[in-house]
Amino acid sequence: MDSNSITITDHRTGKQYDIPVEDDNIRAKALKQIKVHPEDFGMMTYDPAFLNTASCRSAITFIDGDKGILRYRGYPIEELAEKCTFLEVAHLLLNGELPPQEDLSAWVTRVKRHTMLHETTKKFLEGFRYNAHPMGMLISTVAALSTVYPDAKHVHDPVIRSRHIVRLIAKMPTICAYCYRHQFGLPYVYPDNDLSYTANFMNMMWKMVEPKYVADPTLARVLDILFILHADHEQNCSTNTMRCIGSALADPYVSVAGAAAALSGPLHGGANEEVLKMLDEIGEKTAIPAYIERVKKGEVKLMGFGHRVYKNYDPRARIIKWAADRVFEVTGHNNRIEMALELERIALSDDYFIERKLYPNVDFYSGIIYQAMGFRPDIFTVLFAIPRVVGWLAQWQEMLLDPEQKIARPRQVYTGEGERHFVPIEERSPAQTVKA
Ligand code: SDX
Repeated sequence: MDSNSITITDHRTGKQYDIPVEDDNIRAKALKQIKVHPEDFGMMTYDPAFLNTASCRSAITFIDGDKGILRYRGYPIEELAEKCTFLEVAHLLLNGELPPQEDLSAWVTRVKRHTMLHETTKKFLEGFRYNAHPMGMLISTVAALSTVYPDAKHVHDPVIRSRHIVRLIAKMPTICAYCYRHQFGLPYVYPDNDLSYTANFMNMMWKMVEPKYVADPTLARVLDILFILHADHEQNCSTNTMRCIGSALADPYVSVAGAAAALSGPLHGGANEEVLKMLDEIGEKTAIPAYIERVKKGEVKLMGFGHRVYKNYDPRARIIKWAADRVFEVTGHNNRIEMALELERIALSDDYFIERKLYPNVDFYSGIIYQAMGFRPDIFTVLFAIPRVVGWLAQWQEMLLDPEQKIARPRQVYTGEGERHFVPIEERSPAQTVKA
């Protein structure tokens, strides 16, 4: 018997099965041999929401949730946030290495060449109401780009794949800015490729009649750091969605649109917008203890708190707190950060949160910074999607190149009716409540 294995005894049959262990795990497929009768389908694992299921092998991002560790391609997030630019980290996530200067310059030039949108996309955006939520506009517009670039469906062609990866990274800020300008009936501002990735985004968002937009360097750098922090996070809900849609060989535009749709949920990337609403609902510090009691009763969730993987402080939240001080040095202080800090202080001293290992996550402070920088809450999740498109694409590409991966198609545990036959309408009983 191989020492690197486990033995399962099926007490229903008395049979024993030696299951090989790989990377401290077992393959779910190895359980299929466990049957009571030869005609049985065989044993599966049942794991709703994939709490304890690895869907892939990945070399991109490592998280140790108990220790609050996050690394991109082995580099600690703290070092990357301090020393790199977002596009430098994008290159790292996609290609596996930090680029030498010559390669980085070529990469940045390539991205800058694709920041413009096809003019028809502007007309597409005109179809949205002025109060349309920017995430709905973003998801739809990214999907529509699939019709502008039909060759993107050749996902196994590395040259074509690379071209559309660059296009998506380059165009996300432009789409976001155009969605924002549309909301206010403002003319679209074309990209200014003299500017950095984030300064150009701010230009497209906020340039008015000045001949040339000048971004505050501190705010542009803080936004660059926030983009680094949001770039990837292993198999989160939206990345899992990207991999699932991509596994059917759909093109990267519709796959990103699907991933962005998952991100828009309030339990995922939509939480940053919900945190601001929560702080406004609480209103003032003195009302925090009462709100915490409502959380503990299960009436409301403490948005921006808790995480499926982190059972310690989200390392990104720590960096964002540092970045907040830099922003307030420019924009002036606001009471929301005081509210958030007090909320964190009270929560982290309360057994309800301590027992459940609930700490601030990436969304708890990010919205406060975004608002101080001048972004409206309804665009916060779009600000999450812009950098996360790099992670989605890196994971999508890794999936396509993984020889073990094929179209994702999970099984189920059937709990419905056994076989039964058609009942003529005159013989049917009054409508029963549908059994869950
Ligand atoms: C992101 O996966 C990723 O990596 C995501 C992300 C990324 O970069 O891609 O990090 C980005 O999505 C961050 C999370 C943003 N979402 C929020 O801030 C929404 C609020 N948080 C929760 O909804 C919750 O913490 C989740 C969704 C983040 C995680 O939920 P889990 O892992 O399914 O945990 P759970 O809901 O089963 O909670 C376990 C317990 C429960 O209490 P009991 O039933 O055991 O009594 O903790 C409680 C929950 O009620 N709980 C909370 C809470 N989060 C969990 N109670 C109050 N407030 C919360 N925020």
